[in-house]
Amino acid sequence: MDTLVIYFSKTGTTKAAALKIAGIKKADLVEIKPEKLYEMSYGKTVLTSIKEIFTKARPALAMEIPNIQKYDRLLIGCPIWCGFVPSVVLTLLDMLDLKGKHAAVFTTSGSTKPMKLAVKLKKLYPEAKWHKPLNANGVTEEEIRNWM
Ligand SMILES: Cc1cc2nc3c(=O)[nH]c(=O)nc-3n(C[C@H](O)[C@H](O)[C@H](O)COP(=O)(O)O)c2cc1C
Repeated sequence: MDTLVIYFSKTGTTKAAALKIAGIKKADLVEIKPEKLYEMSYGKTVLTSIKEIFTKARPALAMEIPNIQKYDRLLIGCPIWCGFVPSVVLTLLDMLDLKGKHAAVFTTSGSTKPMKLAVKLKKLYPEAKWHKPLNANGVTEEEIRNWM
């Protein structure tokens, strides 16, 4: 099964998980890059994130949109921001044809678990076949192997 790991990471935690998961799952890797970087403080990023969630913003990307035709499985990684995924992740998902793809999300966070967020993603993109999310905080090789 051809697998693509797509991830967004502001401070590197999710990136480290994405690299580990891509290595174990023998997957290709794509990083989601926003045009306007979230270079500000934690507090300011929280305010920006809340505003983006409430206005249903789709921040512009500074990256090539991946051709996902050959992939059967998409593993989407991101930090949990204000209980949800950073809006820039939705910008990319909106652009992809997810029909029939096996998909699952993995997250890093302070403590929030990804289940609620995964349910919301399933509602937003019902055309994909969504699988159980993975809490990638301190995830072990065995947990990754047993996932998806
Ligand atoms: C804007 C913002 C909102 C956050 N909201 C949450 C949250 O709702 N729950 C939580 O447990 N952690 C939250 N965090 C913490 C991040 O999810 C956590 O630090 C994550 O591992 C960072 O990933 P990264 O290094 O890949 O950017 C938030 C961090 C930021 C910057």
